Amino acid sequence: MSMTTNQIRNAFLTFFENKGHHIVESSPLIPANDPTLLFTNAGMVQFKDCFLGIDKRSYTRATSSQRCVRAGGKHNDLENVGYTARHHTFFEMLGNFSFGDYFKKEAIAYCWELLTEEFKLPKEKLWVTVYEEDDEAFDIWVNDIGFPADRISRIGDNKGERYASDNFWAMGDTGPCGPCTEVFYDHGEDIWGGPPGTPEEDGDRFIEIWNLVFMQFNRHKDGTMEPLPKPSVDTGMGLERIAAILQGVHSNYEIDLFQHLIKSTAELLKVKDLDNKSLRVIADHIRSCAFLVLDGVVPSNEGRGYVLRRIVRRAVRHGHQLGAKGIFFAKLMQPLIDVMGEAYPGLVEHKELIEKVLAKEEEAFARTLDKGMQILDQDIAELVANNSKTISGETVFKLYDTYGFPQDLTADIAREKGLEVDWDGFEKAMNEQRERARAASNFGTDYNDNFSIDERSEFTGYDYVNQNVIVTRLLKGEQEVERLEEGEKGIVILAKTPFYAESGGQVGDTGQLMGCGASFKVEDTQKLGDAIAHIGYMEKGSISNESELQAFVDAERRQHTMRNHSATHLLHAALRDILGTHVTQKGSLVGPERLRFDFSNPEPVTQEQLRQIEALVNQKIYENHAVEAQVMSMDEAKEQGAMALFGEKYGDEVRVLTMSPFSVELCGGTHVKRTGDIGAFKILSESGIAAGIRRIEATTGAGAVNWMQSAESSLQSIGKLLKSEPSQIADKVNQLMDKSRQLEKTIEALQSKLASSQGSDLASQAEEINGVKLLVAKLEGVEAKALREIQDQLKNKLGSSIVVLGIAEDEKVSVIVGVSKDLTGKVKAGELVNMVASQVGGKGGGRPDMAQAGGKDPAALPAALDSVKPWVTERLS
Ligand code: ALA
Repeated sequence: MSMTTNQIRNAFLTFFENKGHHIVESSPLIPANDPTLLFTNAGMVQFKDCFLGIDKRSYTRATSSQRCVRAGGKHNDLENVGYTARHHTFFEMLGNFSFGDYFKKEAIAYCWELLTEEFKLPKEKLWVTVYEEDDEAFDIWVNDIGFPADRISRIGDNKGERYASDNFWAMGDTGPCGPCTEVFYDHGEDIWGGPPGTPEEDGDRFIEIWNLVFMQFNRHKDGTMEPLPKPSVDTGMGLERIAAILQGVHSNYEIDLFQHLIKSTAELLKVKDLDNKSLRVIADHIRSCAFLVLDGVVPSNEGRGYVLRRIVRRAVRHGHQLGAKGIFFAKLMQPLIDVMGEAYPGLVEHKELIEKVLAKEEEAFARTLDKGMQILDQDIAELVANNSKTISGETVFKLYDTYGFPQDLTADIAREKGLEVDWDGFEKAMNEQRERARAASNFGTDYNDNFSIDERSEFTGYDYVNQNVIVTRLLKGEQEVERLEEGEKGIVILAKTPFYAESGGQVGDTGQLMGCGASFKVEDTQKLGDAIAHIGYMEKGSISNESELQAFVDAERRQHTMRNHSATHLLHAALRDILGTHVTQKGSLVGPERLRFDFSNPEPVTQEQLRQIEALVNQKIYENHAVEAQVMSMDEAKEQGAMALFGEKYGDEVRVLTMSPFSVELCGGTHVKRTGDIGAFKILSESGIAAGIRRIEATTGAGAVNWMQSAESSLQSIGKLLKSEPSQIADKVNQLMDKSRQLEKTIEALQSKLASSQGSDLASQAEEINGVKLLVAKLEGVEAKALREIQDQLKNKLGSSIVVLGIAEDEKVSVIVGVSKDLTGKVKAGELVNMVASQVGGKGGGRPDMAQAGGKDPAALPAALDSVKPWVTERLS
């Protein structure tokens, strides 16, 4: 029996654990605090600060199985997925890492031992590449390992630029990088392809299985290669590829894990042909989509959310090609859990949420698919009417862009109807769109822009707000200085400090540093690497390196912030209690005035739920639990069920904050001593900030009391206006609304009475022309709506008659003409109304016996009405 994928993952990690490596859990797909990367795309991403020497850990050797997504950004495989044997949007990368510990010699030896002894791969099946200039790696392979030199390819800068090579690996355009050596596996003569470095290298015969990167440089935006403090090792082996080899199959899709997903999909969709490419696409996509949602991405129209949306849609489209009706993609969560739930318990824990998010997206896409079909049908009908045969590129693009309507589906339909598609036009529109997307993308920032200094400050603010401190460094901008003089802006670094630097959503402290007649105002506190930076200006006097000062944190502001921070933890726990454990934190901001908490939830939180949440938090406040912080290992923290934050980076030791068993959370922030110190908690608002993400804003302590008092005083002033007690206000308002409705009715009745009485007065103003009654009048205080009724009444009263009425309100003129039926042969209401309207800048229309018009020149109305009589007289004579 060959090894299962799960067994291979474990075997790899155990092998390196036995070689003194620390097993580190996969980090989430959203890289922590890193704007340069769309997704985690390699095992080294969570360690990049270790390579740069900024992050120091208790271990110098690590091993992991890292979940990766390569869709969008520098490493993008989306379009290839399903059509090659080994491209995936999601895959796992097995890796071993040395942070300035061992280097090339050991890395290559471990690799060889694992492949040939642990995994027992036949030596003659392996092929090796090294970077052309890397004689050291070449010599190790040949002399230490005894690998035949004629099966080593030396690959230089083959991608058009210095260090642009298949054997020079970089995480992104900036950051750690270095030359690499790769091991290839020969899948045998039956398959077309040649060894790396030959013209046939793109064939499927020789497949890269392991990449050993010798991290030596930090690449900067301007292209400079700064040597790393200590040369390090970063390796990556695709779990699915090695599984294919160890399970004796050629394509990754044939391994146990994918076969289960493919068979489950086929069963669900009743598809017989298991080799159908669409099944592969779906099996691949459910992995990336499920993990992206698990790691906090929700489908949207930009950035990471947009990549997720495209993958879901691609999967759904392939499902529909296989004849899927209704939701199917979300139903693949269970089969996925069957094969990956053991290694990733998060999938099991958040199954319901992931299913909900995916199902919602599927449904929405089904709707847009329908809408897109309607638009296309309409477009085609127009084309046929105009004897045209080409669907414009713009239509295809609009369908694609607005309705997510895949262009190949448009192409299919066009083919069926014997129509063509303007693909050039489509490409042009697409390119314009790409340009816009590129311009709008944030993911181009330089990793090295995160300025930091090599200094460590001890934070003492859990216990103190005032303290004697010593200045260790002074900065003006990024420039180190000896002194800061009165009036100058700058940054003060202290050996230890009670000032809290902004992190974990909690704002930085403000306050004062004072001593020897000098005073520095701290306006903000931030982290610079491991140093705590007091940012502000010299109010008085000057300070220099090694000055001894006293630090005073603005204690009241800090107190308010702490209440809000502790309440945020209670809110988080209450949300999970009332709404369900699918709720995960998506972000928070804790300041002195209020707190803001963003979390995943597919629907708005109802008023009733908000009331329950608020009540529960307040209950925990007056139960007055002790707030306890304890430093422990990550494993212990997990055992205690501590909630950790997605996208947040934690060291080996974590600080766990507990408030009774109700809330247990990893947190480095400052908190009250007992929950009772929070005083009170009041939710201010609940709103949606993105699909599936809600935001609650709330306040505590004095903020909550202020809120209540101002709410009460508004109620009191309303009560005063209504002359009623606050508790009776609602009844009173209802009564008032009833009354106003009655009054409106009375007014309407009166208006119509008024109109008819005006009507009888008017009738007497009619003149007689050749036996016909002509009434021309400009009315005042009548609404345009009433004109028709007045005209009817007048016509009835006058018998054989012509009635012309006009009104001018604001900038608008309305005219109506009524002609009794017996006269329509001679005078057409429509003609007459237009004759008048043309003089007041308007146009009209209607029946021969009644027509209406509008105009925009009130000043011209009297003259226009005067012209009626001669016009009519002429027609009647
Ligand atoms: N970081 C290297 C890779 O992704 C190992 O190939």
